[in-house]
Amino acid sequence: MPLVDWFLRHSVTMWLLLQSFVLMTFCFHSATTFPKGCYHAEEDGYKTFRCSNAQLTEVPKDIPNDTNKLYLDFNQIAFLPIDAFRNLPVLLELDLSHNAIVRIESGAFRGLSEHLHSLDLSSNKLVSVNKDVFSNLKAKVNLSSNPWLCDCRLQELIRTVDLVAGSSGSIVCDSSAKEEHVGKPFLQVVTDMDFCSVYKKTTDIAMLVTMFGWFAMVISYLVYYVRQNQEDARRHLEYLKSLPSKQRKSEESSTISTVV
Ligand SMILES: *[C@@H]1O[C@H](CO)[C@@H](O)[C@H](O)[C@H]1NC(C)=O
Ligand SMILES: *[C@@H]1O[C@H](CO)[C@@H](O)[C@H](O)[C@H]1NC(C)=O
Repeated sequence: MPLVDWFLRHSVTMWLLLQSFVLMTFCFHSATTFPKGCYHAEEDGYKTFRCSNAQLTEVPKDIPNDTNKLYLDFNQIAFLPIDAFRNLPVLLELDLSHNAIVRIESGAFRGLSEHLHSLDLSSNKLVSVNKDVFSNLKAKVNLSSNPWLCDCRLQELIRTVDLVAGSSGSIVCDSSAKEEHVGKPFLQVVTDMDFCSVYKKTTDIAMLVTMFGWFAMVISYLVYYVRQNQEDARRHLEYLKSLPSKQRKSEESSTISTVV
């Protein structure tokens, strides 16, 4: 039985081979739980997680919770949902530049308010962002090179956000209610006009018009009511007048008759 013999002689080797194969697949599997194209390193004492240029379409899950610097630049991330960066309590720097971000949900940066000191959102596709997105954030933010709509919302946003030094000139109006603003830096445009006061003025005028409308309605109703009552009162008065006058007439006629 040469075959059985061969098996017996090689069983130990086979067993070892099988075991190492199982171990290898295990290791490989745990390595691939990191998103493809991402790697973890220690740079100048900071735990750094780099996923630059990794064809990501969303913020990866399973980012190590001790990450200090997170690079997600040059990807195709389009949307930042609420709690996109939860469980990163010691994150200092977040680079989201050169993506395709069009929308940021309020609460997307929740949990980063304590430590984050740098947030790069430059070179994305942001048109309009609610200022609440950045509430409580202490980080310096780069908002340059986005197709901004210059309006009251952007004015409020820029009033709220702590812009990174030297980046404000690159926040340029891509669209605006006024054609002449297009292509100009927002901070230059806003020295000549207050987007929010224009907005407030129109709402004030609308409010005045509605208030005047109501007032006119109330007045006309009052006038109508008074007129109607006057008419009724007059008729009633005439009726009342007519009563004693008949009596008087009958009395008169009776006196006349007696005189006659
Ligand atoms: C990361 O998570 C582990 C396990 O949940 C926890 O023990 C550790 O304190 C966390 N680290 C930080 C920096 O929060
Ligand atoms: C802000 O972003 C722009 C565009 O990506 C970049 O050129 C600039 O250096 C950034 N500014 C700072 C201060 O990081």
